[in-house]
Amino acid sequence: MTGDAAIEAIDVARTYALDGVSVSALRGVSLTIAHGEHVAVVGPSGSGKSTLMHLLGGLDQPTSGRLRIGGRDVAGLTPAEMAHLRNATIGFVFQSFHLLSRTSALDNVALPLVYRGQGARERRERAALMLERVGLSHRIGHKPNQLSGGEQQRVAIARALVTEPAVLLADEPTGNLDQATGAAVLELLEQLNTAEGVAVVLVTHDREVAERARRQITMRDGRIVDDSAAADGAGTGPVTGDASGEVPR
Ligand SMILES: Nc1ncnc2c1ncn2[C@@H]1O[C@H](COP(=O)(O)OP(=O)(O)O)[C@@H](O)[C@H]1O
Ligand SMILES: [Mg+2]
Repeated sequence: MTGDAAIEAIDVARTYALDGVSVSALRGVSLTIAHGEHVAVVGPSGSGKSTLMHLLGGLDQPTSGRLRIGGRDVAGLTPAEMAHLRNATIGFVFQSFHLLSRTSALDNVALPLVYRGQGARERRERAALMLERVGLSHRIGHKPNQLSGGEQQRVAIARALVTEPAVLLADEPTGNLDQATGAAVLELLEQLNTAEGVAVVLVTHDREVAERARRQITMRDGRIVDDSAAADGAGTGPVTGDASGEVPR
């Protein structure tokens, strides 16, 4: 247990019950995400990447094992306590943006601050700054359907960052974007990591993208089968596994 850990999972498992059948999505995963890290998670479709991200982000609870987010054990937290911890520690970016469709970019970004009891004016000022940070100052009044996919993902990133999280979790954030737009979004995430020290954990199918991260984690069948941080000569080895050429879920 290092003081440096932003998130720590110890032998975490997650089993889903589906029509009376149990599906083991994660079968005992241990990993530590340190502050400021840049981690890529790769692995075939169905290997448990999204399940792991949901757990690391406090969107879900493990069936067994221990999970600490921001130094707190999530076991036994009420949903309200969990939401508070998440709001204080984690930013989440999804493949399909998850923006409120009838709400302006500015108010989408300001929303997470509502739970902090900040005044409306302060929230909007802060949201405007975040939108400027992601290059969208000229779009603050636009609703999601008035924005391109890349712009919507930038809004989602601004929303994830507005609470100044220690960790940004991004689950295939470029999955719905064309190559060039996706590259720009990834560049933004990298910049946030290097310039602002936000730890970034990124699920990707793109081997080249994964190799740009300092650490690569490969999953298969609900397990971590390779972690470059654990290997000798940490972070220097190639990404193993068939991370490319699959259909994202
Ligand atoms: N809500 C759910 N209910 C039942 N099974 C699920 C659920 N979510 C995911 N799974 C199953 O868990 C496994 C891992 O899924 P997931 O974490 O989404 O993988 P990945 O993101 O790597 O594609 C898959 O077999 C998937 O079908
Ligand atoms: Mg997934």
